[in-house]
Amino acid sequence: MAHHRIIGLKAIFLLLNLCFLQASFGEDIQLGKTIYSQCVACHSLETNLQQIGPSLSGVVNRKIGSVADYRYSNSLRNSTGVWSPERLNAFLENPQAALPGNRMPYSGLTNPTERAALIAYLATIKP
Ligand code: HEC
Repeated sequence: MAHHRIIGLKAIFLLLNLCFLQASFGEDIQLGKTIYSQCVACHSLETNLQQIGPSLSGVVNRKIGSVADYRYSNSLRNSTGVWSPERLNAFLENPQAALPGNRMPYSGLTNPTERAALIAYLATIKP
């Protein structure tokens, strides 16, 4: 009997933990959406809509410099690999240091919490 009660309590704590996790995840995405206002002048989230910069729809884990109808700098076009969260994090912190010679006129997002939130938000935008 006592044993069952302990298991019951454990289950309740586990559920509570999951709720907190979900709540903070939701907040991150909201924050990321707010931070995206710094990108929206140049980047659309609509697939196939290239503006000053390429569409960022599905950018997380997309091959770097790979939007077919966008004219990239040599720096981006010749880069290898994908926009993993780690590479996006480094690029958004300091675009010129991460990929020298790129043409993105953005000096960088210094706050790591804001970068993580922005990347979490971008990951929700699928083509
Ligand atoms: C003033 C315009 C401008 C702003 C603001 C801007 N970007 Fe860019 N972005 C560009 C341009 C132009 C490129 C292409 C650079 C090149 O070809 O060298 C680019 C490229 C990128 C790429 C590479 C995409 C690919 O297909 O490889 C990512 C990722 C990116 N930007 C993310 C962001 C994010 C996130 C923000 C907001 C924090 C942002 N940019 C703000 C203009 C901008």
